[in-house]
Amino acid sequence: MLIAAELKNLLEPSQLADLDITWLAADQPTPKGDWVAIVPLLSRWVGGTQLKNLPNLRIVANCAVGYNNVDLVAAEMRKVLVTNTPGVLTEATADLTWALILATARRLIEGVELVRSGQWTGWHPEQLLGLELRGRILGLFGAGRIGQAVGRRAPPFGLRILYTARTPKPDFERETGAARVDPTRLLAESDIVSLHVPASPETKGIINGETLARMKRGAILINTSRGDLIREEALAMALERGHLGAAGLDVYTDEPAIHPRLLAAPRTVLLPHIGSATEETRRNMAAIAVANVQSVLSGKPPLTPVY
Ligand code: NAP
Ligand code: GLV
Repeated sequence: MLIAAELKNLLEPSQLADLDITWLAADQPTPKGDWVAIVPLLSRWVGGTQLKNLPNLRIVANCAVGYNNVDLVAAEMRKVLVTNTPGVLTEATADLTWALILATARRLIEGVELVRSGQWTGWHPEQLLGLELRGRILGLFGAGRIGQAVGRRAPPFGLRILYTARTPKPDFERETGAARVDPTRLLAESDIVSLHVPASPETKGIINGETLARMKRGAILINTSRGDLIREEALAMALERGHLGAAGLDVYTDEPAIHPRLLAAPRTVLLPHIGSATEETRRNMAAIAVANVQSVLSGKPPLTPVY
């Protein structure tokens, strides 16, 4: 099997028992050959050409919960299974989402920069005033595993919750008091909008000039899902104009590149795609990806298929 070389330190030899492994570094192209399984990082595109070059492939075991780096249509046509790593990264990613909510609402980066600059002259009653969370509205755009985990952390901060999803979530509503609304109302009423839908043709560019204009003046946008959801230049312009209060982002359209206007925009907290970056979570992700391969190669069904 082919497996991302960057996962080597996260896997125990026992997890790799009986597998004939070719380690594939992130900067190497996907090779042609007889491999039967591949465990790619989310940065590796696995499309029609790659699948054609791997004619014996039986499984793409993506080491991520998102799988927008895999062409599902091409995989299904070739009868190649696709799996992801759901669940194990939910809490870590929800924590990181909250780190961004608090960092943007309370202007953490500006505070750190002020202290580091040596220009801080002491406590001032109007210095770096942020957004009081109590009584405000958190809008979850997508309320699956991660969206709900983010929402469950909101009540102690006094935030009310709106969410949008294709199907209602009665247990989540009971637990948190969240209300399901349509996307237009969510954008218009939320003080903080946090994106948790996967990247797909339907969600690509859902945050654009028009939808940003519908958000409240001073609202905060958080994205720990996928960069494709946001038109980055439009977001930069909304921040420059002061229409948006701040943006906290972990993901970008063309990683690791970030639109230069967004990089230069005010009131941003920009992280390098570290939503699931805790030791336990990354080990668990690697373990599930390899366990999916083990299962399929031993003739059993995949553990976490995406379709
Ligand atoms: P999930 O459980 O599948 O939840 C996805 C949510 O999006 C569900 O509420 C779903 O609605 C909704 N949805 C899907 N397609 C939609 C559409 N076209 N329009 C409106 N709503 C739609 O996924 P998850 O585990 O929470 O993960 C969400 C995403 O987070 C992943 O796809 C991944 O891209 C990203 N992620 C990023 C990091 C990071 O490092 N930053 C880490 C982990 C995950 P229904 O519930 O009604 O189906
Ligand atoms: C990370 O971005 C993931 O989808 O797991």
